[in-house]
Amino acid sequence: MVKNHPLAHHRPQWKTHIGFLLAAIGSAIGLGNIWRFSYLCYKNGGGAFLIPYLIALFIVGIPLMILEIGLGHKMRGSAPAAFASISKKWEWLGWWQVIFVMFGIVLYYSVVISWCLSFLFFSFKLSWLPDPNSFFFNQFLMASSGPFDIGQLRTPIVFSLLLVWLFNWLIVFSGVTKGLERANKIFMPLLFFLTAIIVFWGLRLPGAAEGLKVYLRPDFSRLWDIKVWMDAFSQIFFTLSLGFGIMIAYASYLPQKSEIVRDSLIISGANCAFSLFAGFGVFSVLGYMAHTTGQPVTEVVTESIGLAFVAFPKAISLLPYFAKFFGVLFFMSLVIAGLSSSVSIIEAFTSGLVDKFHYSRKVVASSLSIFGFLGGIIFATQSGLYWLDIVDHFLTQYGLVVGAIFECILIGWIYKAQRLKEHINHYSSWKLNRWWNVCVKIVIPLSLLVILISSLIEELTAAYGGYPRLSIVLIGRDWLIYTLFFAIIVASHPWKIEPGERNLT
Ligand code: TRP
Repeated sequence: MVKNHPLAHHRPQWKTHIGFLLAAIGSAIGLGNIWRFSYLCYKNGGGAFLIPYLIALFIVGIPLMILEIGLGHKMRGSAPAAFASISKKWEWLGWWQVIFVMFGIVLYYSVVISWCLSFLFFSFKLSWLPDPNSFFFNQFLMASSGPFDIGQLRTPIVFSLLLVWLFNWLIVFSGVTKGLERANKIFMPLLFFLTAIIVFWGLRLPGAAEGLKVYLRPDFSRLWDIKVWMDAFSQIFFTLSLGFGIMIAYASYLPQKSEIVRDSLIISGANCAFSLFAGFGVFSVLGYMAHTTGQPVTEVVTESIGLAFVAFPKAISLLPYFAKFFGVLFFMSLVIAGLSSSVSIIEAFTSGLVDKFHYSRKVVASSLSIFGFLGGIIFATQSGLYWLDIVDHFLTQYGLVVGAIFECILIGWIYKAQRLKEHINHYSSWKLNRWWNVCVKIVIPLSLLVILISSLIEELTAAYGGYPRLSIVLIGRDWLIYTLFFAIIVASHPWKIEPGERNLT
């Protein structure tokens, strides 16, 4: 019956297995791998951090990856369609995941990619000299005094944001094989190549060894600190793109005969190996900077925005030769890592709308790109930095975590982990045992719950980032609430074809 179903016919399929793997790896490898992982290592006991990190990978990351890929493969549908096939009452969850990522995370993530794009061009002239810090905050962002002091639009940022959305649009518009698969087949090898140059270049700089010592020298006493463990668990979860509905959508384009378990291991392993590798580049360059300026390495270490837009530009301008070229390499790899992640969520949302309403992909991709660009404009104002910080905090600390806890309850307890496991084992030559059920039903939701509760406690003790409380409530909390309403409304609309009928095996 199923094979003759109209939807089964029209569902696109990855042309090659490697194409699927690269797209999933492309989604997982993002800015976080380059600018956050190595900092977390440094902060949380160097090499010793690898212990909680690997444990989190094996008991939360990989099992959840298998769950999402197995679910997408079984239901042959995006997150909303997959959850609705299990129970109509849970369809909102799938929508909520893809909506708050699409109309939240991607909006500001694209703005950050647009900063990277601007800096790629600035690299040609090392425009950030003489003072990279002041250049970034005062000249480039023209940061205002706080979230409610919106100020003006930053036209150069809006312009590169437009370019970013043009790329996003082009890739998703062109479809699964001609867009996502083809783009990632170019992007991923290129990213590995660029990163390899950065790492080997970095390792040969004087002072690199000092930097690496700070990055990886193990301090096992840090393992007694619960925060270290929480960092490991939340990083694994975010870096593998779990709880976004992305892997479910990507796996829904797999052919019947698929190695779900092996692929999940490859994707997760490649992502984490990349993070570790990129860290060598980051810390040897920081080591070089410390060496040249005569400061201790620990004084020059930063993460995320501070690393990419202040510390690295500073280090780049200290390089004796080919400094501009190094800048181009670095910012180009950030742009590529970012784009391959941002397109993955636009795809996850597009695929949800196409599944439910049978709209044309081209219309959906085009409208989403326009909305995405317009929605991102608030982050391209002078107060953008603050908005970005608040929205990011709430969506990743709460939205993603709550969504994934529900996901585990739904699959583990209501649908039954055992049932999905049988499906996965039927197709995979690497079999799951009962530990997987235990992870899905107990270990993952419990670890996420601990993270959630401790974030909540922290939230109540001090206003996040020292921002005015009102801005946190209006921007952070309400963003989650509005997306939830939106999800419930979309979920309550009727399906063109009931999801149950698309339930294939
Ligand atoms: N895994 C990415 C990272 O480490 C984050 C990410 C995954 C993401 N999927 C995304 C960000 C979709 C934005 C949109 O950076």
